[in-house]
Amino acid sequence: MSKYFVSTALPYANGPFHLGHVRSTYLPADIFCRYHRMIGDDVLLVGATDEHGTPIAVQADKEGKKPIEIATRYHNMIKRDIESMNISMDNFARTTDPLHYKLSQDFFTYLYEHDYIYPQSEQQLYCPNCGKFLPDRYVEGICPVCGGEARGDHCENCGRALEPHELEDPHCLTCNTTPVIKDTQQYYFKLSSFQDELTEYIENNEKLTDNVRNYARNWLKDGLKDWTYTRDMDWGIPVPLDEAKGKVIYVWGEAFLGYLSSAAIWTRKNNPKWEEYWQDNAIHFIGKDIIYHHAIFWPALLKAHDCKMPDNIFAGEFLSLEGLKMSTSKNWVVWVDDFIKKYDADLLRYYLTIVAPLNKDTDFSWDDFQRRNNDELADVLGNFLHRTFTFTRKNFQNKIPEFKDPSDEDLEFLNLIKECPEKVGNLIDNMEFREGLVEIMKIVKAGNKYFNDQEPWKAIKSNEQKGANCIYLSNQLCKVLATILKPYMPSTSDKIAGIININPSDKWENGSEFLETGHEINKAKPLFKKIEDDEIAKEKEELYKNLETKEKKDDNMEHEEIMSIDDFEKVELRIGQITEAEKIKKSKKLLKLQVDLGYETKQIVSGIANEYDPEELIGRKVVVLVNLKPAKLCGEKSEGMILATENAAALLGVEDQCEIGERVM
Ligand code: MF3
Ligand code: ZN
Repeated sequence: MSKYFVSTALPYANGPFHLGHVRSTYLPADIFCRYHRMIGDDVLLVGATDEHGTPIAVQADKEGKKPIEIATRYHNMIKRDIESMNISMDNFARTTDPLHYKLSQDFFTYLYEHDYIYPQSEQQLYCPNCGKFLPDRYVEGICPVCGGEARGDHCENCGRALEPHELEDPHCLTCNTTPVIKDTQQYYFKLSSFQDELTEYIENNEKLTDNVRNYARNWLKDGLKDWTYTRDMDWGIPVPLDEAKGKVIYVWGEAFLGYLSSAAIWTRKNNPKWEEYWQDNAIHFIGKDIIYHHAIFWPALLKAHDCKMPDNIFAGEFLSLEGLKMSTSKNWVVWVDDFIKKYDADLLRYYLTIVAPLNKDTDFSWDDFQRRNNDELADVLGNFLHRTFTFTRKNFQNKIPEFKDPSDEDLEFLNLIKECPEKVGNLIDNMEFREGLVEIMKIVKAGNKYFNDQEPWKAIKSNEQKGANCIYLSNQLCKVLATILKPYMPSTSDKIAGIININPSDKWENGSEFLETGHEINKAKPLFKKIEDDEIAKEKEELYKNLETKEKKDDNMEHEEIMSIDDFEKVELRIGQITEAEKIKKSKKLLKLQVDLGYETKQIVSGIANEYDPEELIGRKVVVLVNLKPAKLCGEKSEGMILATENAAALLGVEDQCEIGERVM
């Protein structure tokens, strides 16, 4: 027997769960834990809501509420969602728990006293309009590395962790002002001194999954930089140093500790020491967007504190919805709570597992969900169970018949049944959750084929034993299914056990024990029903309606802001001609242009590098906004703006007869 410490990434308490949370993290962790408990391992599964940091503070600002009110609201919803999905969480805590504060502050103090944390003044973005520093998600901009949209400390596109001052083209989330750079003193964690230990950890830890190792390698290759561990903010855990009044620990500097504090809270309520679990096997389930944090920061923090690093990190890839990226702000999302009101959790657990392996991005679509429910759960699994049970009732008075003089086909099928639990178990243990479920569906298909081939309805009339053998073995497969389906579809598994008239399966080895001849089963009820086309049509309509309303709202807002011609007069647009164009080293998106306006030449930095090569721009006439306040982008001054469309960054066409310097009205 081994002990396992398993954690699920801490969701920010700023929204309830959608299908993406379940697919990438919670469901795989649950399958893994349920299986290990069934084979007799001692498993501790912990989680918590991540309640500090800018995501919650920003949400609170928006609603005019206190951050803790927001956090409490969503903590409760998330807890409800986790329960409704039947995730077998041992403890689900909050990072606002006093014990978490203490643990995080003690951790900080330890690192500080051991010289892993040092103060240094640094440049931070400051919004002159709001009069405050802009930590993390209070500022949005462009990722300096991949050119994707970055929200403060995190690039949504490449998943890289960013320091706020690294952003290109930054603007204040609250008021849209371009922030200025101002000095402030912060505390740094010496991440750079862990380069060798982390390389060793990533390269020589055989258990580590491939996607995690590959991501981490890339980051290590770039060389690690020290990491700001504190922020100027009110919402958070105060830095435990007298000279650091008004500063809080960066949310990523304490969120990880939520794994440990949640476990410590569990230990306080139950007796076993959580440390023993960590020592034996420590496994994190996360989404792929936070591999950087878990493969780099967290092991380094643990090392600095002289603790054991995680044994494995399992990162589920992304789930899209109807082919489009999920977006909570656009309401392009399916919330767990809505789903669960209409469909059993097991249907979703089945779908999200079977649709693709977790190390691949995949899509949720309502049509595919319907198809898999109807063709696979109802027609294959449901059909096999139901025909076996009803046949047993009608022809054998609900009793398991005798098995004797088996034919070759009987023996072949018997073998398949015997082998199945071990095969599935090994796959789950190897984190190949989809493959395990595929294996189960394969044997159920084989079961249906066997049932068809044996034709027990005929056999019982002529050769009674052939029919009896078929029903005997079919029932044995149902019994095995009650066990091996349990990690995937716990309530279905219990229902099957109920029909077979055995205790709910909680030991994997039960899977290989057969029912005795004469054992009496209960009356069957169908376990799955088909989902009708019009139900699915309604779901899709609902979803697409959300998208349209949101788009309409956006459009209207843009169209309806009426201004007077005098306002427009203030906008000085002129025809210019590009005379020089070059790439900017630090940016994938920006080009530095010299634009001739007749009366002067302006330098303009423009975000069109993905669409245009510098060479093709030379000589091109463009429309220029000339009276724009100068700004610096990526260290280059920019004295105007070239007009281009918002999404495609397509330049406007200018007829040849337009003269350089001519005003556009
Ligand atoms: N709240 C973070 C996010 O949603 C994840 C934190 S996981 C942690 O991105 F445990 F490390 F905190
Ligand atoms: Zn501002």
